[in-house]
Amino acid sequence: MEPGDGFLGPTLIDAETIQNRVRELGDQISADYRGKMPHVLAILKGASIFHADLVRAIRLELSFDFIALGSYGDQTMTSGEVRILKDLDESLDGRDVLLVEDIVDTGLTLHYLLKNLRARNPRSLKVAALLNKPSRREIEVPVDYIGFDIPDEFVVGYGLDYGQRYRNLPEIHALQLNADPR
Ligand code: IMP
Ligand code: MG
Repeated sequence: MEPGDGFLGPTLIDAETIQNRVRELGDQISADYRGKMPHVLAILKGASIFHADLVRAIRLELSFDFIALGSYGDQTMTSGEVRILKDLDESLDGRDVLLVEDIVDTGLTLHYLLKNLRARNPRSLKVAALLNKPSRREIEVPVDYIGFDIPDEFVVGYGLDYGQRYRNLPEIHALQLNADPR
């Protein structure tokens, strides 16, 4: 994508609202995993910012790891075909795994990844997603912790990108696309 294909729209979720919600999710996860040591996985790169804030809001001993996925399609489309660009460093065998994702859109990415991770024999496997676009779902996926449900808009900021841009914004913006690539 070339600069000029899209421009930043208004703030959809401001930084303080995000931080408050992340703290609530951290409290809930801390209660749900009491007595356990969750292994908290981030899907790179989009979930990196959410993950970094969320693990600091969880008041339990925990460990974390990273996995990077690539899709074959365009940035704003999901082909459902996902490949692992960088795998986890550690085994999931017998662990209580919490997978952290930036946004669940069609659900295809998560569906693929959950199948892959389940085969690694974790004791439990749950999902935390900052954003959820329920109206776009093509396949049912379990999402245990959701930050915010949002309408069908392409959004950037707080880790989410458009052509690798805007990940560093502390709030979530809608992106106004000149032509909707979907
Ligand atoms: P899904 O497979 O359709 O659920 O897509 C999930 C992935 O698509 C996310 O991990 C994002 O990388 C990307 N994605 C979906 N919607 C958006 C959006 O609104 N902004 C930025 N990235 C998105
Ligand atoms: Mg992305």
